[in-house]
Amino acid sequence: MDFLFSDNAAGVKPSAIREILKHSSEPGMIPFSAGNPAGEAFPVADIARITNEILKKEPVAALQYSVTEGFMPLREKLADYMGKKHGVVKDFDKIIITAGAQQVMNLTAKALCNRGDTIVCENPSFVGSLNAFRSMGAVLKGVDMLPDGPDLDQLEEIFKTDKKVRFFYTIPNFQNPTGLTMSLEKRKAVYALAVKYNIPILEDNPYGDTRFKGEELPCIKSFDECGLVVYAGTFSKVLSPGMRVGFMIGHSTLVDKVVALKQTQDVHTNILSQKIAYDFMTKCDYEAHLKMLKDIYRRKAALCMSEFDKYFEGKIERTSPEGGLFAWCTLPESVDMLSFVNEALKLKVAVVPGTAFLPDESAKCSCFRINYSTPSDEQIIEGMKKLAQAGEKFKW
Ligand SMILES: Cc1ncc(COP(=O)(O)O)c(C=O)c1O
Repeated sequence: MDFLFSDNAAGVKPSAIREILKHSSEPGMIPFSAGNPAGEAFPVADIARITNEILKKEPVAALQYSVTEGFMPLREKLADYMGKKHGVVKDFDKIIITAGAQQVMNLTAKALCNRGDTIVCENPSFVGSLNAFRSMGAVLKGVDMLPDGPDLDQLEEIFKTDKKVRFFYTIPNFQNPTGLTMSLEKRKAVYALAVKYNIPILEDNPYGDTRFKGEELPCIKSFDECGLVVYAGTFSKVLSPGMRVGFMIGHSTLVDKVVALKQTQDVHTNILSQKIAYDFMTKCDYEAHLKMLKDIYRRKAALCMSEFDKYFEGKIERTSPEGGLFAWCTLPESVDMLSFVNEALKLKVAVVPGTAFLPDESAKCSCFRINYSTPSDEQIIEGMKKLAQAGEKFKW
């Protein structure tokens, strides 16, 4: 059957890169390519106990339809937590619970963008968000990532010259894919530019609570005095991605529109998952859980980076993440990135070609992303050895 696809669907295509990625799930493959939280970080026993309690105490409410805005006690708890810990909820803001942070990107773009409008993104950036924006027919303009965050000159130039910019999408903490963190000065400067040009910021912070090294930095949303910043949060990286519970904090006018749009998409976020998230935050030791999680990622990141350096120091540049799940590796000019990734695949090691994360997927890229949370310690050690073997085919 030949379907006539909509213009919006036509914008989202499987690329050659994603075809390569299909191999990542083959049996025996060492998965540096995934973006999954470490399985051992899931609080399985607590979730089982909480779920049983909920189903015993309030089975109908837990299984019934619910409200689109989200489970009120969870919204209140998040407002309190985010206010105290991240200073983000202002008087003009509202919170809506979403099906993961991914839905925040989707609904924000849906609320603010017409086909042909521009969304400014970091270059590279998270492919799930880029595809959500593409599916709205948005034109993506990339701002290069520097070690302390996006290039401000490029950002201002786009803000100044492109009258169709609808918002700037940024991941300030342990960015996916680079692992880079935006400096405090840059956070302030990005907010100042947004105010100067009256352009909203979509601040995506799924890894904010995973910092395992260095000093906490304030969210851009915490500077927001005029409702220009939309904040996307999620339980995916700190509790469970399968539960699909995220949230959006933004100016009430925008959140009200997003509520109306969400109603047409999935009516509301899974209510049982919302109740579990709420009970986990209020009845378990949430801070102790976060500490356990950070301990796991600190250890895994250190192991992965030291194994990487054993073989590639002086050959492949890499970032040094202080949280999150990823590092970004840059090959020398003499090595073709896609050939290197393919050689690695032949040896059953999967990394993600950097091209997958570019707002312009046809641009040249000599980088790849590695993830240290999914592979086991043994896989990290074996995988780096094999990656080095793959590298032997190339002139460095
Ligand atoms: C930067 C970034 N934003 C959003 C998401 C989506 O998260 P969620 O599972 O909450 O939809 C991810 C997931 O990997 C991510 O890396």
